[in-house]
Amino acid sequence: MKTKTSLSALIAVILIVAQTSAQGKSLYERLGGVYSIATVVDEFIETLLVNDVLNANPNIKEARDRVPKAGLKFQVTALVCEVTGGPIKYTGRPMKESHQHLDITGTQWNAMAGDFKKVLDKFNVPEKEQNELFEIVGTTKNDIVKFPDK
Ligand code: HEM
Repeated sequence: MKTKTSLSALIAVILIVAQTSAQGKSLYERLGGVYSIATVVDEFIETLLVNDVLNANPNIKEARDRVPKAGLKFQVTALVCEVTGGPIKYTGRPMKESHQHLDITGTQWNAMAGDFKKVLDKFNVPEKEQNELFEIVGTTKNDIVKFPDK
C-alpha cells in the first residue's frame, strides 16, 4: 500500500516536472518574481513622476499629487505579477476606469513607453522578456489612451 502511494507520488512529481520543462517558466518566474517586479515598478514610477511630457498634462499632475505613490506602486506591481502568470491577484480598478479622467494622449503614452524601456534596460531585463512585457502592456493601450492622435 505504502509502495503504491509512493509510486503514485513519484509519477505525479515526474509529470509536473515534465510539464514545467515542456511549457517553460512563466514570465513572472523569468522576471524573478515579486521582489524583482516590485523593484522595477518602484524605479519605473519614480521615473514617470519626473517626466515633463507627462507632468505637462494637468490631469495627470493632479492625480499624482492626490494619489499616494506607494499605493500606485503596490497596485501596478500586483497587476504585473498577475498578468505575467504569478500567484498575486490585482484588486484595483479596470484600466479604463482608472485612466479615463486623465485624458492621456498618444504622445504621453510614448513618453511612458520610453521610460519603461529605459528602466528595463537599467535592470538588464533580457530582450525576450522585455518584448513579452511590452506586448502585455500594449493590450491596455486602447483603454488608457483617450487621444491616440494627439
Ligand atoms: C501614459 C501612461 C500612463 C499614465 C500617465 C498613468 C498614470 C496613472 C495615474 C495618474 C493613476 C492614478 C489615477 C487616479 O487614481 O486618479 C494611475 C493608476 C493606475 N495605473 Fe496608470 N498610467 C499610465 C499607464 C499605465 C499602464 C500601461 C499600466 C499597466 C499596464 C497602468 C497601471 C495602473 C494601475 C494598476 C493603476 C491603479 C488603479 C487603481 O488603483 O484603481 N498605468 N495611472
